[in-house]
Amino acid sequence: MSGFSSRTGFSRTWNALSQALAQRQAQGLPWIDLTVSNPARVGLSTLDPGLLATPGALTYEPDPLGLRSAREAVVAYLASRGAAIHAEHLLLSASTSEAYAWLFKLLCEPGDNVLVPAPSYPLFEHLARLEGVEVKPYRLPRAHGFGLDVGAVAAARDARSRAVLVVNPGNPTGHFLHEGELTALAGLCAETGLALLSDEVFSDFAWAPEPDRVPTVAGRPLPMLTFSLSGLSKVAGLPSLKLGWTHVGGPPERRDEALARLEWVADTFLSVGTPVQRALPAILAQHVPRFQTALLERVRENRRQLVSARPRGASWDVVPAHGGWSAVLRIPLAPGEEAMCLALLDAGVGVQPGYFYDFAGGAFLVLSLLPPPEVFRTALGTLTAVLAG
Ligand SMILES: Cc1ncc(COP(=O)(O)O)c(C=O)c1O
Repeated sequence: MSGFSSRTGFSRTWNALSQALAQRQAQGLPWIDLTVSNPARVGLSTLDPGLLATPGALTYEPDPLGLRSAREAVVAYLASRGAAIHAEHLLLSASTSEAYAWLFKLLCEPGDNVLVPAPSYPLFEHLARLEGVEVKPYRLPRAHGFGLDVGAVAAARDARSRAVLVVNPGNPTGHFLHEGELTALAGLCAETGLALLSDEVFSDFAWAPEPDRVPTVAGRPLPMLTFSLSGLSKVAGLPSLKLGWTHVGGPPERRDEALARLEWVADTFLSVGTPVQRALPAILAQHVPRFQTALLERVRENRRQLVSARPRGASWDVVPAHGGWSAVLRIPLAPGEEAMCLALLDAGVGVQPGYFYDFAGGAFLVLSLLPPPEVFRTALGTLTAVLAG
């Protein structure tokens, strides 16, 4: 359509699943939502609203990088995860998604590209497109537990590639970045000038200890420009508060230039609200430990239920993973992902097909592990029956 930019020419057609769900809802039929990603919707993240009523909550003294006191709180949070960093190298934004938009502006000319993992969270394509940037997928091999294969990153790269995105742990695949993978990736980035964007929003949600797991790249002496992204949306289960952070690292001269330019970008928007910045020290110190303990307990319990619900010799499998909020099932190729999702919805359980996340080489379903265990158990009864045909 003329008069609008091609960047906003998104396809708005409904897929068969969203149509079926709308129909079910219009008929008033109940369903169990195994696609839920907001912990607040399943009783997991309730913040004491009093925490937001700090002195100075309504005083407007903007700092483009974010209030110093808020950045110091992120320094303390990351220190407790083993990262020694400085508040001068942190930048606050309204969300991780906004930080991606700022980083694409920082690193890319229109028409440049960024390398993104596949399968993965689908928003990157939209975020990049809105900045006039293309995404080039690199495959996470299933044979390698959906871990990073630096050869696949190198093969996806071309002369217009500016950055590589790593989601640690993968969403929904739940594979953490390991030391050996980071070393290999750092070698490629140093050789080719790629920056590293490390999405660490699920990094606190490891289900069990794992040797060589990289919890964050923040504070690591790496040879390339490095951006570590996270925020309250996942760390605190509070997407409504709208606060994310980016740590900038790498060779000092490049890092400082990146920070100076990002400060300019952030100053153009000043998008983070003051009340949440003032409340951040208390949110990170008081709310986050409670929330994460409850969430991990629930996710581990649901995962345990899922694994033990699989009948011996079943035609489907639970894909091995080490963290995150989701589970991936590998299902038979026939009748296919969409037909299986429609059959499940018809039986009252909503799940996502693997193609939403660009899975390849098989058929997959993605399930949220967030619902209350008794609800999840009921859904598993339906799931195992429908999968058994
Ligand atoms: C891997 C990953 N990164 C980033 C985000 C977006 O987080 P935010 O709410 O901070 O924009 C999500 C949200 O689901 C996600 O799954």
